[in-house]
Amino acid sequence: MMNSRIPLMAGNWKMNLKLDEAVALTNAIGEHSRELKDIEVMVAPPFTSLHAVQKAAAGKRILLAGQNMHWEPSGAFTGEISPRMLVEAGCTHVILGHSERRSLFGETSDIVDQKARAADLMGLIPIVCIGETLDDREAGKTFEVIRTQLEGSLRHFREDERLPFSTILAYEPVWAIGTGRTATPEQAQEVHRFIRDWLETAFNSGTANLIRILYGGSVKPDNVRDLMDQSDIDGTLVGGASLKAETFIPIMRFQDPVT
Ligand code: PGA
Repeated sequence: MMNSRIPLMAGNWKMNLKLDEAVALTNAIGEHSRELKDIEVMVAPPFTSLHAVQKAAAGKRILLAGQNMHWEPSGAFTGEISPRMLVEAGCTHVILGHSERRSLFGETSDIVDQKARAADLMGLIPIVCIGETLDDREAGKTFEVIRTQLEGSLRHFREDERLPFSTILAYEPVWAIGTGRTATPEQAQEVHRFIRDWLETAFNSGTANLIRILYGGSVKPDNVRDLMDQSDIDGTLVGGASLKAETFIPIMRFQDPVT
């Protein structure tokens, strides 16, 4: 059965690209994104480029996401950005709990949960990231770790017994991020299926069917099709290959006939 989940191809620029490069890349993406009717395209620039990228992206069917945010609406939180500030900068989405946030900046699932709740209250769609490390995988703990991260990061929504259908999850095995070592499509599908089954148990089957689950970790033009062919992979969150038009455009155009 075909599902109704629209593929989402997102670029996470991390702490890369100067302002002029960010605008040039947005312009290049915009020349293609406009024609892509049944695919959503998104970029997550550094905070300081958001305003300029938003201007360049206007009218070009490019969604804008923050890479992180604080959960409070305002206050004495030096160096932080609030949900409202992201909305004002033109963001509709925010990436939360990326493995770099978790491992380098001490972000726990509890924090991700607070942020996801705050994003939702502000009308920002959270993209909640989860993923196991190589040690976890080799110890046979992949599913246990994924379950624990899901339970912790979506705790408020579980208490409310409602996960907004627009919420996005991103499965990013830590061992595949920036390493050139992609999960095989089958490995990724196995975890995506597990996540969807968990959504059905934690919420209900309607939620499980509608929530999009992205794959991230060394997505490239030459592996994107096989990944997107998997029934539970609904899009990709791309790091390295999202920084250049030559690699991101073929990824977002993965449905084009191979020439
Ligand atoms: P990568 O990063 O594509 O460079 O592996 C993915 C991510 O961290 O979102």
